[in-house]
Amino acid sequence: MSTNGKVGIGIIGSGGIAQGVHLPAYAKLRDEGKVEIVAVADANETTAKTAAEKFIIPNVFNDYRDLLKLSEIDAVSICTPNFLHKVPTIDAFAAGKNVLVEKPIALNAIEGAEMVAAGHAAGKILQIGLNLRFGAAPQAVKRMADAGKFGQIYYARAHALRRRGVPSWGVFTQKDKQGGGPLIDIGVHILDMTLWLMGHPEPVSVSGQAYREFGNREGVFNVFGPWNPKIYSVEDFAVGHVKFKNGATLTLESSFVANIGKDEFSTSLMGTEGGLFLDLADNTNSRIFREENGALTDTSLASLPTVASHEQEVRAFVNAVLDGTPALVPGEQGLMVSAILDAIYESSETGKEVLL
Ligand SMILES: NC(=O)c1ccc[n+]([C@@H]2O[C@H](COP(=O)([O-])OP(=O)(O)OC[C@H]3O[C@@H](n4cnc5c(N)ncnc54)[C@H](O)[C@@H]3O)[C@@H](O)[C@H]2O)c1
Repeated sequence: MSTNGKVGIGIIGSGGIAQGVHLPAYAKLRDEGKVEIVAVADANETTAKTAAEKFIIPNVFNDYRDLLKLSEIDAVSICTPNFLHKVPTIDAFAAGKNVLVEKPIALNAIEGAEMVAAGHAAGKILQIGLNLRFGAAPQAVKRMADAGKFGQIYYARAHALRRRGVPSWGVFTQKDKQGGGPLIDIGVHILDMTLWLMGHPEPVSVSGQAYREFGNREGVFNVFGPWNPKIYSVEDFAVGHVKFKNGATLTLESSFVANIGKDEFSTSLMGTEGGLFLDLADNTNSRIFREENGALTDTSLASLPTVASHEQEVRAFVNAVLDGTPALVPGEQGLMVSAILDAIYESSETGKEVLL
């Protein structure tokens, strides 16, 4: 903690997600007297300077290792592409900083495990930017799940499906820099939220299949504009099936491109006392299904507060640093998600079920 009782913040990677959500959230916390935004670093000088001017940040670096030398910095947001999550995180721990790293934890679970171990060794917080959990509807149904409204949850169906939504910017279509396609970019969110709602049962085996049916084709319609099919090296659809030690199972479907009727971003839970359809694309569709006194009931969620989940994620991180409490999305849980995603890819390649 900085001597003035505020958390000193550094931003590593000041592109889309940093300027879109991390910095606005930290700026609010600065107004509330909880943080100082001490420095920003980006390999792209213009991006770093733009962020510094926009958010009034006194120190600007090209090399994030210079940022880590500042003793006024207690905590960093790491908002670099996936292939640059591991090393900056480990360097930040070596410099004694707490870390909020964007999702997924890393390119794969091997890298993620190194990051978790480094955090433990340093005695610092590692929080993963899996923000969906902080939304009003997920928080509401999590309270119900914890109170037993669904009973034992024995099956879950998690969908992060885009009909035509290939990110046409950045490195999202390059396997070496991104680690994977929709599974790792958007499937990661819905899988994490679903595991959290289920109470994080222990996964024991995974099977799955990944497809690249559109990525290398020229001229496919895309809501985000054309992508470069020559460098597209990730899947465009994947499906996974996970078995847990407690007997529960889960299926996960994720796509950038698929011939389906509409985008879906949802989780269904089946429990012994109730079920859930949580529609994150349109919460008015969300329902809780139960049998009450001999009648089947469908309950909707009404008058939920408007919650900016990314802002809540940043607030939770700062509070954990201020109070010395554990992260609400700890590295271990981000690692479990990555281990499942890795196993779907492995199963797709080997044609076999993968034991975790
Ligand atoms: N939680 C969410 O909803 C969400 C949404 C979008 C992106 N993300 C994640 O955020 C991360 C970044 O995505 P983005 O969309 O902001 O990408 P982006 O390309 O807009 O920004 C990444 C920035 O990192 C910088 N960078 C690259 N190498 C660097 C280095 N060595 N040191 C410092 N900076 C470096 C780039 O110059 C760029 O400005 C990814 O991991 C992505 O998965 C999360």
